[in-house]
Amino acid sequence: MTRTSLTIVLAAGEGTRMRSSLPKVLNPVAGRTLLAHVLAAAPRGTADRLAVVVGPDHQAVADEAKRSRPDADIYIQTQRLGTAHAVLAAREAIERGAEDLLIAFGDTPLISAETLARLREPLGQGASLVVLGFRAANPTGYGRLLLDGDRLVAIREQADANGAERAITLCNAGVMAIDGRIALDVLDKIGNANAKGEYYLTDAVGLVGELGLVARVIETDEDEVRGINTKAQLAEAEAVMQARLRAAAMTAGVTLISPDTVYLAPDTTFGRDVVIEPFVVIGPGVSIGDGAVIHSFSHLAEARVGAKAQVGPYARLRPGTSLGDGAKIGNFVETKAAQIDAGAKVNHLTYIGDAHIGSGANIGAGTITCNYDGFGKHKTEIGEGAFVGSNSSLVAPVKIGAGAYIGSGSVITKDVADDALALERNAQTSKEGWAKRFRDMKTRHKTPKPG
Ligand code: UD1
Ligand code: MG
Repeated sequence: MTRTSLTIVLAAGEGTRMRSSLPKVLNPVAGRTLLAHVLAAAPRGTADRLAVVVGPDHQAVADEAKRSRPDADIYIQTQRLGTAHAVLAAREAIERGAEDLLIAFGDTPLISAETLARLREPLGQGASLVVLGFRAANPTGYGRLLLDGDRLVAIREQADANGAERAITLCNAGVMAIDGRIALDVLDKIGNANAKGEYYLTDAVGLVGELGLVARVIETDEDEVRGINTKAQLAEAEAVMQARLRAAAMTAGVTLISPDTVYLAPDTTFGRDVVIEPFVVIGPGVSIGDGAVIHSFSHLAEARVGAKAQVGPYARLRPGTSLGDGAKIGNFVETKAAQIDAGAKVNHLTYIGDAHIGSGANIGAGTITCNYDGFGKHKTEIGEGAFVGSNSSLVAPVKIGAGAYIGSGSVITKDVADDALALERNAQTSKEGWAKRFRDMKTRHKTPKPG
């Protein structure tokens, strides 16, 4: 039987040490906010509920919580009086009852769903409270875990710890699981008689012991529980997350020629035999099909790359790009809201925005879809097998028929029929012998410069 759960994520903190106007939990790691990472790890079965505690005036944090987990209920902690006080802001959710109460922090983005599941296990096996612990390289600032055998007897906050306690390196990661039947009783008993005058969630451990119940610790790696307070810690978390994503991609069969130079997003999906060359950045919402190659210095976000398609080097696929199988996007090409069907080629120095390009079409170097008139965006449609000559401007809205040719350098403002040739430029004139006469005239009184 699966146990029912309520996860409460605390996100009412201030990001003062970030020196930023952005609420701390809205900073991104791998293109996703800290909060969204934590919420993605929270249980999401039919037996699971989710609550997020935000500070007053933090509508943006509440919006982000709803965006990443529409099933989340939002609670507001009106005054920042400590972690136990923050949990009780979601009192109503706790009162509704769940077998397991999980508490996590919104600024600890590397926590995994597997660890949260592991944390719950002892609750079904006699423990009433479980804390996630880790061995800190530098324990300063963390709550220290005081053990008696394998029982956890207390958590001592840095400010309240004596010298011997400060020497302990086993620390509180801040994630806790409590038996739902006793959670509210215990939380209500927590007082604020400590060095900081805060309601410490960590006091729940001692109170569970006083009830004659058992608290335990499960350990995890420090990398998984890095809390983020500064931009430097944000960059460390990014490095840990990217290392994880690269390792997962390679395990899934992706060839990363220089893994450390490739940036991925947690939702990137790969087919078989994908190759990613050095220095590629992949933002959120990207899928890459079987056998596709992403050449160096390309940037992709919210884009689909079909099987055996080729991208770059130096390509930028912006949101809404969809490349069919075998399509080619070459250097210095930017695409946005563009469907580019199978086998079409856009090889050089081109902008394709708000467009549909039929299969097998060839778009010459320097082609621009003029999609914006300063007010609205307009669509360009290019039929199957069409050939757009280099340096053409396609002024949208406009349609180029299947199999049509556009002469190089044309500014196309009217629709072109299937299989037609459209030319929009002056007829070429030629003056026989002109260049020679010109040179002769210029050099009559002068000897030309060498080289
Ligand atoms: C907390 C733990 C400490 C642990 C450490 C791990 C307590 C008392 N201490 O300390 O044992 O080692 O995290 O990083 O729990 N928050 C609110 N409202 C509040 C106070 C905090 O929402 O009134 C939220 C913050 O946004 C943050 C989290 O709770 O996400 C932790 O608060 P913080 O002040 O950072 O606690 P620490 O001192 O780091
Ligand atoms: Mg903290």
